[in-house]
Order: sequence, then structure tokens, then C-alpha cells
Amino acid sequence: MLGLTAPAACGIGGGGFSIVFDASEKKLFVLDYREQAPAGYNMATFRSKQPGAAIGVPGEIAGLAELHRRWGKKTFAEDMAPAVRAAESGFSVTRHLAKMLALKPDLFLKTPYGSVFAPQGSLAKERDRVTNHALGATLQRVGAEGPKAFYEGRIAAELVEVAAAAGSPLSASDLKAYRPISREPLRAKWEGFEVVTMPPPSAGGLLLLETLGIFSKSELAAMGHNSAGYIHMLAEAMRGAIADRMRTVGDPAFTPDKTSELLSPERLKARRARIGSERTHAPPRFELIEHGTSHLVVTDAKGNAVAMTTTVNSFFGSNVRAPQSGVLLNDELADFTEPELAALFGGAPGPNQPRAGARPTSSMTPTIVFRDGLPVLALGGSGGMRIPVNVTQVLLCRLVFGKTLEQCLAAPRFLTPPTGPILSFNTDQLPSSAVQLDLMERGEQVKWLSHEDVSAVHLVAIERTGASVRMQAAGDPRKGGVGLVR
Ligand code: DON
Repeated sequence: MLGLTAPAACGIGGGGFSIVFDASEKKLFVLDYREQAPAGYNMATFRSKQPGAAIGVPGEIAGLAELHRRWGKKTFAEDMAPAVRAAESGFSVTRHLAKMLALKPDLFLKTPYGSVFAPQGSLAKERDRVTNHALGATLQRVGAEGPKAFYEGRIAAELVEVAAAAGSPLSASDLKAYRPISREPLRAKWEGFEVVTMPPPSAGGLLLLETLGIFSKSELAAMGHNSAGYIHMLAEAMRGAIADRMRTVGDPAFTPDKTSELLSPERLKARRARIGSERTHAPPRFELIEHGTSHLVVTDAKGNAVAMTTTVNSFFGSNVRAPQSGVLLNDELADFTEPELAALFGGAPGPNQPRAGARPTSSMTPTIVFRDGLPVLALGGSGGMRIPVNVTQVLLCRLVFGKTLEQCLAAPRFLTPPTGPILSFNTDQLPSSAVQLDLMERGEQVKWLSHEDVSAVHLVAIERTGASVRMQAAGDPRKGGVGLVR
């Protein structure tokens, strides 16, 4: 449903990660259904400017089918039915989608995709009703026949054809061979909580757990929420984690997973000693262009919880769409790191080098926080490299300062771009000018970002008193997020 109604962010041509807590079994389960580089992919593909060069083998359907196989209560077809109905009878264009459509008019006005979002020849606007019959028919077929109908046969053949025309080496055997991977979560005990988050190929969980491991709750509380000292110290811890990511994190099938070493208490103690309130560190410069992604959190009164981040990477992924099946293909392989950039962090080609069969390093940080064995907070977000930085700030806002979910989402959140000692704030979430000046005195370069350029965080909080359970949910309104409790 999210892929149908938020195609700029995610969809069955993309992939994602889910963390699931099964309350009856008291078991945690992490599923990686991220896109994978085709067997014919290489450095030349990475460097190619062709529109399909960054298309990875989509993992979304394989991932959803695996989640369904383990926990589905209805048939796969019944689970697909609401999205099939919405595709056929129409759904309303959200404010966020209308904005995204206007950013890519050529994709909708000059291609067969126009029939979906520009049915009368002009771009759909907020609240317009649109249909997507091609995607509806694909969802129906995959619902009825299972993931094989997506990864083999007619749908797969069309994906290979449109990908090839756009310069991608994606082949029928890449699609047929795709499998989601179950992984062990990254977890850490912190101040009476247990924080469970995404391991490699995500680097998001590493940033979150490094930051928690560096500071105690009382140290953070004493600094005061969003004081200049607090922002600066968190940013410094995160810069260290970004450098660790660039040096060590890649697809664990190719790059040894060093997270437990990196998270060792002795190492983090040494890190803490290097961070000072009056100086800043600059991670070497590098850029990543990322704009898609959505996050979904679901919990229930029994204590089951799912934190799922799903993406096609950039807005509308690669912009390559298969007209018959309605599948819009991702550009996730843009998440590989260029050797030149890896060299700035001390070693090319680096752990996240472009290579066949690898899943590129991600920043997606689906996270569940437990107290006494039961979930108390589940969250995640969008925004590429900004995801873990934002998820960590919202998590601390809640766990250290006890603010409401809405207050935590509305509070200024900084980004630490790995381009220098920079702190960027959205113009609609600026700290006071006194805090900005104080940050500059510590050596931070304070920058303002247009408020379009957001990292949206969505979260659910669960409070238990005796047998009573109180749930709260909130989504970042700037990206059309909503919280629903019923
Ligand atoms: O996996 C990642 O970290 C990115 N490909 C996600 C892209 C993203 O979040 C863009 N967001 N607005």
C-alpha cells in the first residue's frame, strides 16, 4: 500500500529491512531484503551515467513474502487485496507526493507513467484521485501466485528488458536467485533499556549504538535537551561513527562484520576521551545523493512490534518503470562508495566498494527499544545518511528527556553531513540564535537546509502500568507521516 501511494519513496521495485518482535515466542527477527548488485555489475557500471546503472535486484516482494510466511494470518492474496483495490478504484494524492511529482515532471508527462500521475496530460495535484491498474494487476498476481510470479516469468522478463534498455546488467538469473537474509540484530543494554537495531549491511545501528555507548543518560540529561553543548557532543560522537562506517561497514558477505569490536566499551571510552566541548572533528568529505524511503511502525497490545524501513533510494528510484507491470525500479546501488571517497577515509577500494552480488551499505535504522523484555519504543525514518543521526536524536529525546512524541518530532534536529564540521538544521526547526552562536564558538559551521530536505522519523511508544497498556504513535508531518492508535 505504501509503495502504491508513496512511489517516490518505496515500492516493490525497491527493498528494505524489518525488525520484528514476536511477543508470544519472545523472539526477535531481523530480515534484510535489500537490493543486491546483479552478477554482471562492475566498476564500469557504477561509473556509467546511464539511468539504470544503479538498479539493484529488488528485494521488497521476497521480504514481504518471507514476513508473511512467518507471521501471516491471512493468505498473501488477502494481504495484497487492499492495495489491489486502491490501485484499481483509486487513491488520493498526498501533499508530499504532489510535491515530489512536481520535481520530476518529465517522468510523468513524457513517459507511459503519465497514465498514472498525469492522466489528463497535466500533473496530479494534492487530493486528486488516481489509479494504477498496471501495478494493481501485478500485486494481484503476486498475491495469488506468490513471489515466484515476480522473480520469474513475464514480470521478471519485462524488468530485465527495461533495465537493459536503461544500461543495467540485471538478468533473469539475478532475479531468480534473489533471497532475503535473516540476520542477528545489533543490540545493547543502555540505562535499563535494551536497544535492538539493524546490523550490517546497515551502518545505521552502529551509529545509534556508538552514540549511546559514549554517553550515559545522566551526562546527557545534565547537558539539557538541545543545548549547544548537547548538540555539539552528540554530533562529535556521530562523526566518529560516520568515519567508522566508511572504514569498516559493507555487505557482510564480502566485508568482515566488525561491529562488536567497534562497539566495545573500552573503545567507546577512548572515543569519549577524544571528544571535547570546545573542539570539532571533521570527517573527510564525501557526498551521497539520497531522497526516497519510508518507515512504518506497527505494534499491538500483546507486545508484538514491527519496525520496517523501505526504499527505492532516490525520488522514484532510478525513474525506470516497467509499463506492463507498473514496477518502478530502484537506484539503490548508488549507495556503494566511490573508491576516491573511501581513500579519504584511509583505504580504497573500501568495505563498501561497488561489486557484483553485494548489497550496498545502508543507513536505514529500524529500531525497537525494550524494557523488562517488552517493547517500549519502536522507530525509524528516512533521509539516507541522515537517518541514524535523526533516529538517535528522537530516541534520546524520548528516553532521556521524556518529552512527548510530538515534541520530539517538532524539536530542532541537526544533521551531521560528512562534509566537514558542519551542523545543518531545517529552517522550520532552527535552534535559537543563542544556541547557533554558541555552536559556532565551538567550531561548528551552522547551516540551514530548506525544509523540504527532511529526514522524517516515525515512532510508536508503549507505556505499561500493571496490566494496562497505553500506546502513542506519531509520524513526521513534513513527509505526510501519521500516527494511528485504535
Ligand atoms: O539505504 C539507505 O540508506 C538509502 N538508500 C536510503 C535513501 C533515503 O533514505 C532517502 N531519503 N529520504
